[in-house]
Amino acid sequence: MGVRLVEITDENRDAVCALKVRPSQERFVGSVPKSLNDAVQIPEAEPWCRAVYDGDEPVGFVMLSWNVPPGRPGILGPYFLWRLLIDGRFQGRGYGTAVLDLIVGLVRADGATELLTSHHPAEDGPGPFYRKYGFVPTGEIDGGEPVLRLDLSHSP
Ligand SMILES: CC(C)(COP(=O)(O)OP(=O)(O)OC[C@H]1O[C@@H](n2cnc3c(N)ncnc32)[C@H](O)[C@@H]1OP(=O)(O)O)[C@@H](O)C(=O)NCCC(=O)NCCS
Repeated sequence: MGVRLVEITDENRDAVCALKVRPSQERFVGSVPKSLNDAVQIPEAEPWCRAVYDGDEPVGFVMLSWNVPPGRPGILGPYFLWRLLIDGRFQGRGYGTAVLDLIVGLVRADGATELLTSHHPAEDGPGPFYRKYGFVPTGEIDGGEPVLRLDLSHSP
């Protein structure tokens, strides 16, 4: 598996926007077009977006808040995993885990000591995926979603 994070440009935007979760998962995560729109509309959240490729095939999308300065009300950070989706055709093959590995390496290299995320609380939602990876609930709720934290303060 050659998983890569690739910048989204005019060349690949349509292919990346065509990626979709399974219909039953649509309530768990914003679509790629919505996410790219949010990135434009909410610059104070310091959005950082990448397509997920396996070789030359787009398989998913990830968006973070990247190094948000302190003191921005309502914006979790400094490093917050905002959206992660793997197209329904490609789920369950380790891509989601591979993306987390790549993101953890990148934010660590940028000086992060923790990575936050939040997730839809439904039982069949992505909570178990994140907890399996090592994220731990902080006890906070953000916009109705439990907040999870991955500790990056120790050496890998
Ligand atoms: C959640 C998601 C990103 C996981 O990606 P993936 O490529 O399918 O995950 P992986 O193949 O790396 O799975 C890793 C492990 O998590 C488990 N897992 C993945 N999704 C899970 C879920 N929804 N519930 C329970 N376990 C899950 C897998 O079974 C696997 O376990 P194993 O290591 O024991 O085999 C993907 O399923 C997805 O895009 N879901 C819909 C959108 C979504 O909910 N995104 C999160 C938004 S906050």
